[in-house]
Amino acid sequence: MENTQKYIQNQFQNFTDQLIELLKIPSISADPNYKTDVAKTADVLADEFTRIGMDRVKIYPTAGHPIVYAEKIIDVQLPTVLVYGHYDVQPADPIELWTSPAFEPVIKTTPIHPDGAIFARGACDDKGQMFMHVKAIEAMLVENELPCNVKLMIEGEEEIGSENLAVFVKENKELLKADIILVSDTGMLANDVPSITTGLRGLSYVEVEVTGPNRDLHSGLYGGCVANPINTLTKMIASLHDEHHHITIPGFYDKVVELSDEERAEMAKAPFSIEEYQDALQIKEVQGEKGYSTMERGSIRPTLDVNGIWGGYIGEGAKTVIPSKAFAKISMRLVPDQNPHEITELFKNHFESIAPGSVKVTVKPHHGGEAAVTPIDTIGYQAASMAYEKTFGKKPIPVRSGGSIPIIAMFEKELGLKTILMGFGLDSDAIHSPNEHFGLFNYRKGIETIPYFYQYFTQLTKA
Ligand code: BES
Ligand code: MN
Ligand code: MN
Repeated sequence: MENTQKYIQNQFQNFTDQLIELLKIPSISADPNYKTDVAKTADVLADEFTRIGMDRVKIYPTAGHPIVYAEKIIDVQLPTVLVYGHYDVQPADPIELWTSPAFEPVIKTTPIHPDGAIFARGACDDKGQMFMHVKAIEAMLVENELPCNVKLMIEGEEEIGSENLAVFVKENKELLKADIILVSDTGMLANDVPSITTGLRGLSYVEVEVTGPNRDLHSGLYGGCVANPINTLTKMIASLHDEHHHITIPGFYDKVVELSDEERAEMAKAPFSIEEYQDALQIKEVQGEKGYSTMERGSIRPTLDVNGIWGGYIGEGAKTVIPSKAFAKISMRLVPDQNPHEITELFKNHFESIAPGSVKVTVKPHHGGEAAVTPIDTIGYQAASMAYEKTFGKKPIPVRSGGSIPIIAMFEKELGLKTILMGFGLDSDAIHSPNEHFGLFNYRKGIETIPYFYQYFTQLTKA
């Protein structure tokens, strides 16, 4: 991999410029107004895959946004790495909180990124991290050092639930035949504390609507006599946690896999400072489920959170009104072996059952997905661990993450493949937030580390 590494160093400025170009296209999957930009991003990627010498480059249309596929099969006897990533991004709003426009990438330094970071929506999640793979493959191809086969599958709907990718995977099992899936769409603990993500939470997402009277009412004439849907909704939501921050939905914890004391002790070894955590968020105290540490609350325990709530009058000044309706969007992060459909059902039944007779409640399910865990006693994990050790000079720590990538569990179910989550972002990179960024150090380290994964994975598979 020596020539590959030299090529990466020589080309790094170009790699950065190319990523910046990619980040200029607003590939927001959630907003139909950006459909042509999403499609254009797929076109640009397909052209890039062709340019670097990949074969069978194809844009697969779906009922939603397209999937871009490419492969390089050098020898059918050799192992195959299937790379997954996403080129779609979250909406940029609230845009007024960006210090530079979301789709006009600029490099700025920060205390955590003294070498500079690219500021743009998608810089870290996931265009930047996905593109590290493209550049690593380019380097290996140019230098004739690709040690095994590779397939690339990059989708445009991760941020909206990957529903069409799920269909694609089910219908293209032969095309996607591989030995391991490699993904960079997660993070690591710190630039000097490399880590590999060994678990993701699942997700169940619902929208609730509470209806009281058939129209907005004068709050003087009717106040005190009819249910106020906002008062009622907030009371119902408040009752979903008890005083220990346990979720009160009957059956919610039934299938939760509890960690052994050894596993919890192992987890507690990862460096974590509650002071730094609180400082970074400018909070005086953390809060969460009794009996668990902050690290545990954010990874191995399920949660329920209101993501948005609205209703009534929120304009200038005061309007005396009892609203007819109130709404909320609620997410539940799940852990093994909670089933998202079952959890959604439990939520719906419970939420309907606690509604007073004075209102009508509807619960609308959104997308979801199962949790995923990666065992560390596998060739794939070992290869990844060796690759990080090579480029960081330190063994990476296995860490369970609280985020979700619903398609990962699907991959295992449908393709029978384990996924290695080689993420290079930091929690402080502001993914989904204003001023998302990705460190140049991280971008470079990712491109450097990936080729070693291919090398070690091929070696270990043969051994
Ligand atoms: N890349 C993230 C997930 C992630 C980020 C996992 C950091 C671990 C560490 C992904 O793009 C994402 O945002 N997923 C969504 C779920 C999806 C169904 C909208 C999430 O976790 O909220
Ligand atoms: Mn992502
Ligand atoms: Mn995301």
